[in-house]
Amino acid sequence: PEVFLPLRKNARGFDLSHAQTLSEVEDARAPFLSHRWEAAPLIEGDAAPEDPVAVTNPALPEGSPGTVRHASTADVATALDAAAPWNAPLDERRRVLMKAADLIEQNYGEIFALLAREAGKGLPDCVAELREGVDFLYYYAGQAMNEPPAGIFTCISPWNFPMAIFTGQIAAALAAGNGVLAKPAEQTPLVAHLVVRLLHEAGVPRTALQLLPGGGDVGAALTADVRINGVAFTGSTATAQRIRANMAEHCAPGTPLIAETGGLNAMIVDSTALPEQAVQAIIESAFQSAGQRCSALRCLYVQEDIAEEFSKMLIGAMQALRMGDPWHLSTDVGPVIDEAARKGIADHIAAARADGRVIAELTPPSEGTYIAPTIISVKGISDLEREIFGPVLHIATFKSGHLDKVIDAINGTGYGLTFGLHTRIDDRVQHVSERIEAGNIYVNRNQIGAIVGSQPFGGEGLSGTGPKAGGPNYLPRFSAPDVQERDG
Ligand code: NAD
Ligand code: ALA
Repeated sequence: PEVFLPLRKNARGFDLSHAQTLSEVEDARAPFLSHRWEAAPLIEGDAAPEDPVAVTNPALPEGSPGTVRHASTADVATALDAAAPWNAPLDERRRVLMKAADLIEQNYGEIFALLAREAGKGLPDCVAELREGVDFLYYYAGQAMNEPPAGIFTCISPWNFPMAIFTGQIAAALAAGNGVLAKPAEQTPLVAHLVVRLLHEAGVPRTALQLLPGGGDVGAALTADVRINGVAFTGSTATAQRIRANMAEHCAPGTPLIAETGGLNAMIVDSTALPEQAVQAIIESAFQSAGQRCSALRCLYVQEDIAEEFSKMLIGAMQALRMGDPWHLSTDVGPVIDEAARKGIADHIAAARADGRVIAELTPPSEGTYIAPTIISVKGISDLEREIFGPVLHIATFKSGHLDKVIDAINGTGYGLTFGLHTRIDDRVQHVSERIEAGNIYVNRNQIGAIVGSQPFGGEGLSGTGPKAGGPNYLPRFSAPDVQERDG
């Protein structure tokens, strides 16, 4: 096949350990500390959106970053009527997507401020998120082929990667030549609005990219129309199941749904593991981004022989974490996204506390929707009834010789997103990797932060349909049905 090499393959990135870079980054986002943004539908035709509602800053109840006007039923109808594939030649699509990547990088200060104030993200997470979004644009521009598009794609994204996943879905659909109807999560419309403005500025026509902010009702309307030729969804498993049912009723048979969903992710640490390395990997996997990653570690299995000493090290490392406003560089763990999320996680911790199973927990700040990092003991992963989407780590132990039982229990959840293994036995790496049913397996490192192009990301079973985002099989699913059948 034709190979196209973009002039530059990756985002520029920021080295925050470099004093000069850090100071430039701080200067770039400082003007947006108190800024208020306004988001609204960006559609082809006259919009008649709902009244504005305040967007919440999860760290500061008084510090709303702005307002959003949700798309009305009439706006959804207008957008569907106007939607058209992006029929520009392949070279033009690539050039525009790479220009959008450059514009996004140039506006990094505003994007970092939005990610902190709308989504509660600390600076290292902001840097990683911007890089991932830009990498997606470059990667899909580079992968795009001269194939017929599917037509019109609806792209529905979650709040936990409000820039990277939002941009990635759209970039793929556009690179393949589709028209896109984009619906961001209701918690994070402001950064989505900025990204779409920059894509338009780069040259994506309005008919080919329309933004429809709103909640589940807008998402439902955008996945229940025969003019939709495909849906790219990232979010919870339950919502993916609802979308599939909705599409089965209203869309043409065979309309593809690419769903990337939740996980009940495990890690196994055996008695040969390097303890310091494993502890650092666990702290990052369970508590970075306040545990609000689909990839995050939820259930750790430690071999019984080392469990007591290892748990002490782990608790010590957790106690060194600092909670607070993610705007401050000293913060390790920021808030969870909103009060509904906080309450759901707090109820789970309270039930464990009542059973005497909370091993260690920190104290959260008094304002904002925080959950303090918490460690809970469990008998095994089957004790977790659902994905707890926050900084809560569950620990179980296993006896030497019972490794296969642990693998069976992990596979038995039906999820299959990420998995981590810490061991120094090569045969064990081979054996466990062959048996574990998970999309992304990480050995002797953390299990978050897949890199576009190097670590295609996605799960199986309840965790998603595939193909993996940021990998070579993703784009064909955005092409016409005969291309999907051939390559997808
Ligand atoms: P969610 O399912 O509540 O919402 C996701 C999106 O779906 C939002 O835009 C929401 O408005 C929309 N939506 C809700 N109801 C809908 C309906 N009936 N029809 C159409 N759209 C509807 O998920 P969330 O809370 O925003 O995100 C967290 C979840 O996302 C977690 O489960 C996490 O594991 C998952 N996630 C998965 C990946 C992955 O790559 N596998 C990545 C990030 C997040
Ligand atoms: N792609 C994200 C990660 O790997 C979800 O953490």
